[in-house]
Amino acid sequence: MTTATVTPRGTPGKQAEKKPETKAGKKPGNQADKQAGKQAEKNAEPQFIPNIVVFACNWCSYAGADTAGVNRVQHSPNFRIIRTMCSGRVTPGFVLKALQLGADGVLVSGCHFGDCHYQFGNYRAVELFEKTKGLVRTLGLEEGRVRLEWVSAAEGSRWGEVINEFEGQIKALGPSPLNLHPKRSGQTA
Ligand code: FES
Repeated sequence: MTTATVTPRGTPGKQAEKKPETKAGKKPGNQADKQAGKQAEKNAEPQFIPNIVVFACNWCSYAGADTAGVNRVQHSPNFRIIRTMCSGRVTPGFVLKALQLGADGVLVSGCHFGDCHYQFGNYRAVELFEKTKGLVRTLGLEEGRVRLEWVSAAEGSRWGEVINEFEGQIKALGPSPLNLHPKRSGQTA
């Protein structure tokens, strides 16, 4: 004679041994497994890694990037930073040259209004950036490939957010048509 163990709630032992259900409430080995398999296949496909150039002003944004590093803020490493003395120094020519050389996106970053060490440099940056956007459009590129942001020396976490956001934006746009050798995950060089 067999005796069924009864849990405190009155569930027979055999039922209690049933395999656990997934988070989605579905049994393993069914649709959820197939979806997981498809996701794994997708993950195995080489992913586009954007080539991003960042022009950061010496006094605020470059120091903000430094703060992010000191505070171990997690952000994408897929960018190259170029230090300029002021965001107002970043002419359209700088941005267009970066795009011409294969950048998928260009970020210009400087001090908040009122914090520029040259007083009105970031106001000048706004004017220059408007011209840059116009030229980017004229070249047939998406306006979203360029961005202007203000990050102070103390805003390490904001720096990380801006970098991650911009990377997501460029990933959504895909490789620039001017980038003849877009980088994919798994590539060594
Ligand atoms: S010094 Fe940072 S924007 Fe001018």
